Amino acid sequence: MSVREGAIEELRAAVGLRIADEDLLRALVTGLDDVENILREVVRSDVDAIDEAARHLVDAGGKRFRPMFTLLASQFGPHGRDAVVTAAAAVELVHLATLYHDDVMDEATMRRGAASVNARWDNTVAILTGDYLFAHASRLVADLGTDAARIIAETFGELVTGQMRETVGPVGDEDPVAHYLSVIAQKTGSLIATAGRFGGMLSGAPQEIIDALRRFGDLVGTAFQISDDIIDIASSSRELGKSQGTDLREGVRTLPMHYALSGGGADSRLATLLDGPLTDDALVDEALHLLRTSGGLERAHATLADYARRAREELTVLPSSPARDACESVADYLVARTH
Ligand code: IPE
Ligand code: IPE
Ligand code: MG
Ligand code: MG
Repeated sequence: MSVREGAIEELRAAVGLRIADEDLLRALVTGLDDVENILREVVRSDVDAIDEAARHLVDAGGKRFRPMFTLLASQFGPHGRDAVVTAAAAVELVHLATLYHDDVMDEATMRRGAASVNARWDNTVAILTGDYLFAHASRLVADLGTDAARIIAETFGELVTGQMRETVGPVGDEDPVAHYLSVIAQKTGSLIATAGRFGGMLSGAPQEIIDALRRFGDLVGTAFQISDDIIDIASSSRELGKSQGTDLREGVRTLPMHYALSGGGADSRLATLLDGPLTDDALVDEALHLLRTSGGLERAHATLADYARRAREELTVLPSSPARDACESVADYLVARTH
């Protein structure tokens, strides 16, 4: 098994990607190999400090879900793959850059099973290396034309807006759940939507299909974030490869928390604990315990299932094919993995 076939296996374990078709499997494995080569080439620098910090998380792995989805979406168009592979690498670089910055904001100590860059070096190194990765993602996308350059710039703007709105919290009489859902569509759905849009666009797929891939990406990306937020409460750090209970420690309210606090029978102790950042491990454990026994996780799961259903509906305009089945398998799995 080649290294990238291993990557498909990882994607199967992580996002439930199921591909029985040999040709599709080969296309994705080859494409992901090329993406990997671009990533390693791009993050190189003559300055050792940048070189080491930029390579750190590329080497640590990650699912490569976004580039895989770009490659998968390109199966719906007739054209060759150079531009698609470039776009897939650029999308992963944007994602990676946001992780460098996110771990500073969230004061996270672990990422992709390794020490986060802010923990291993410091915040300055993490911020500047994130910027360096953004710069190189933009350089790659510049080769794909002005439309692609505009789309990635707009996507980045939306993603950052989502991160900022999450930090600020609901404003005025904004409903907390509606706020949460629109924030995660911005911070996570937007880039996965662009991954699908790029795949369709750069392979010459019809506009109707590009639009469906974009909407599917938006919805499945939002579902993905909800499942990530459920897992942050329901699993251990070892399973996660990143710190557990990070949202609680940072005072970020996620969907299971909103649901646990609303409706009848809400626990007043839990409300006190969720009022701000929790620095004490024992208090985090107590909050995790109360959340796990509240109905919040179940309700969040129902919302997740609804997003996955809406994502699957977008696939109906796509021609029936192994690539469409693969997209469907991801939507199904995001629901299954949190149960
Ligand atoms: C992490 O994304 C950030 C979220 C949007 C939840 P992934 O879970 O795709 O992270 P990697 O790329 O596999 O590390
Ligand atoms: C990930 O957000 C970063 C972006 C989506 C931009 P989170 O803070 O929710 O994700 P993790 O749990 O650190 O991966
Ligand atoms: Mg985080
Ligand atoms: Mg965050």
